[in-house]
Formats: sequence, C-alpha cells, structure tokens
Amino acid sequence: VPLKALNTFGIRSVADACVTVKETEELPALSGYTPKYILGGGSNVLLPAHVHGLVIRNELKGIRQTADQDDYVLLEVASGEVWHDFVMFVLSKGWSGVENMALIPGTVGAAPIQNIGAYGVEVKDVIEWVECFEWDSHAIRRLSAPDCRFGYRDSIFKQEYAGKSFITKVCFRLSKKAELNTSYGAIESELAVMGTDHPAPSDVAEAVMRIRRSKLPDPAQIGNAGSFFKNPTIPLAQYETLRETYPDMPSYRVDDSRVKVPAAWLIESCGWKGFREADAGVHQRQSLVLVNYGEANGEQLWALSERIVDSVWEKFQIRPEREVQVW
Ligand code: EPU
Repeated sequence: VPLKALNTFGIRSVADACVTVKETEELPALSGYTPKYILGGGSNVLLPAHVHGLVIRNELKGIRQTADQDDYVLLEVASGEVWHDFVMFVLSKGWSGVENMALIPGTVGAAPIQNIGAYGVEVKDVIEWVECFEWDSHAIRRLSAPDCRFGYRDSIFKQEYAGKSFITKVCFRLSKKAELNTSYGAIESELAVMGTDHPAPSDVAEAVMRIRRSKLPDPAQIGNAGSFFKNPTIPLAQYETLRETYPDMPSYRVDDSRVKVPAAWLIESCGWKGFREADAGVHQRQSLVLVNYGEANGEQLWALSERIVDSVWEKFQIRPEREVQVW
C-alpha cells in the first residue's frame, strides 16, 4: 500500500497493509497485528521506504457538546477529526482556547501525543481528558489531563504508554469568555497590522494564520512535517558561557536554572538555512523545518538531520532532539 499521499513530507513509502478505522468497535479485531502504526494526518512522521507492518488510518469522526456552563463548554471530539477544522468549529461558536493553535496540521487524536502548541498556548491547557483503547486489555481508558503527564512536545503517549493504545476521543474545555493570549510578540504586531484593537478569538486565529502562512511552507506545495526538531533546554550556566561568544543568542526562561534556546537559531548559525542536497533541504524561511523538494526519501532526510545535529553539537555543545516521529 503506497503512503506517499498520506504523509505531508511526501515521502515515497510502501506499507505491508493498511486499514481504515471508522468506528471504535473495529479496534479489538486489530489488536493481534504487530507491529502496528497509527496514522492521523501524517504530518509529524518520517517514513522509511518500506513499513513492515500494519498501518491503521484513523477516520473516527464526530464532535459532541456534553456540558454548557456559564463560562465554559465541554466538547468530546473523535480522534480522527482534522485539528484545524475543529479549531474553526470552535471559533464559529465564538468560544476560545484554541485560536493560537489554528492551522497546525494533523488530527485531534495526535494533538495530545506530542502536546501540540503554538504562540504561547499548548493543547494541554484546554484538555479535560483523553480516552483510548488499550491494545492488551481491550479496555477503554480515560486519562485525566494530569494522568497524561504533558510536557513540552511530550506526554505519557510518547513515554511509558507509547504503542500501547489507540486514542479514540479527546474532551476539551473551551471558554465562553474570550481569554486571549496575545503576549507572543509576533501576534501583537500582526494584530496591529490588521488594525484590531479589541481582538476576538477569530482575530487572534487570523493573525496566527497570517504568521504561519508567511513563515511555514505549505505541505501541499513542498513536503515537510513542521518543526523537525524540538527547542533544546540547557542549563543557565551553559547559556551564560555561550552568550560570551554569541551575544545575540536568543533564549526563553524555563525555570531558575534552565533556559530554552530556539533550535532554528542554532541551525541557522551553523549555516544550514536554505541548504539543499538532492531533494532534501532546510527551509529558507524557517530553519527548524526540513523539506522534501520532491523525491527525497526518509533515509536522506534522516542523514541530513544527523549532519545538522552533529554540527550544532560541535559548535554549541547542544544536541537538538527530533520532534518528528521516526518510523
Ligand atoms: N529563528 C531563527 N531562524 C529561523 C527561525 C527562527 O533564528 O529560521 C529564531 C528567532 O530568534 C525566533 C526564534 O527562533 O525569535 C523562534 O522562532 P519561531 O517563533 O518561529 O518559533 P520556533 O521556536 O522556531 C516553535 C514551535 C512551532 C510553533 C512556533 C510558534 C517547536 C519545536 N516549534 O517554533 O511549532 O509554531 O514556536 O509558537 O517548539 C511544530 O511544532 O511543528 C511547530 C511548527
């Protein structure tokens, strides 16, 4: 089964078998297959030429409102819903909480796995619980937000629970009062350009979409999987030493003893921005994004990422971790 059209990197890849799931009831029959790979929007995966195993495509659909309080609503959303469509649905009702995460590719079910985030908001901020089907026990389990152990681009689903379950539903708490987060500089300046003094959630989403469209490549035009690396967290002491040599190195405070540095800056400083070899490259406007100009395969993109990690290590003694899931 060809997977080229099913991954946003546009990598040519073939799976032994592929099945589409439309109802939760279909899951028990699949539990015996190993290995299994679950594919949502295919927007955060690096595929090999051959996937030895069963690929399960998630087409579970549906949005249900289960609570309507004075200041918030609860929505139970099937995991196969497209994330951005869900964001647009929430905005159409005038609710807030997800507007900063407009235009993130992928599905609702994939969102909690890596705790997607953008412009100062993470999906954990609006999640009540995550429901999943456990492959071993065939039980449906509900994990509260603390149970999910969300971290920066991280959760229990990438750690001890990895590969053990299929996320079926996510319950979100959305606010009926616009509690907007416009602290991120790029949003503030985009809202100013738009001439919006009293932004509604839909204005913030519009600003986010403009920023994303201006910086991030559209997978329909050029294959990519968004940020290929995470932004590394380093000890404050190391940062202060590096600052002596690189005074313009940006940073964000994590806590008293650690800072996060933008991987994009590190990669750009090593000269990779706009680099291209055959069809594998580094995006011209966002060096955190690796791109496939056509026929790059997973191995070539992986090799490029290895060279990038090595050069960043050599120059800064920082090792960026990959954000994409490597199959
Ligand atoms: N920068 C460079 N060179 C570049 C791009 C950025 O030096 O080519 C520096 C600039 O100093 C800039 C800083 O990096 O101020 C941060 O850049 P940006 O605001 O574009 O964000 P990012 O850290 O590169 C993260 C997320 C994105 C998310 C944006 C906005 C990660 C791994 N990535 O990128 O998420 O959209 O912030 O909040 O945390 C994704 O995860 O796939 C993704 C796109």
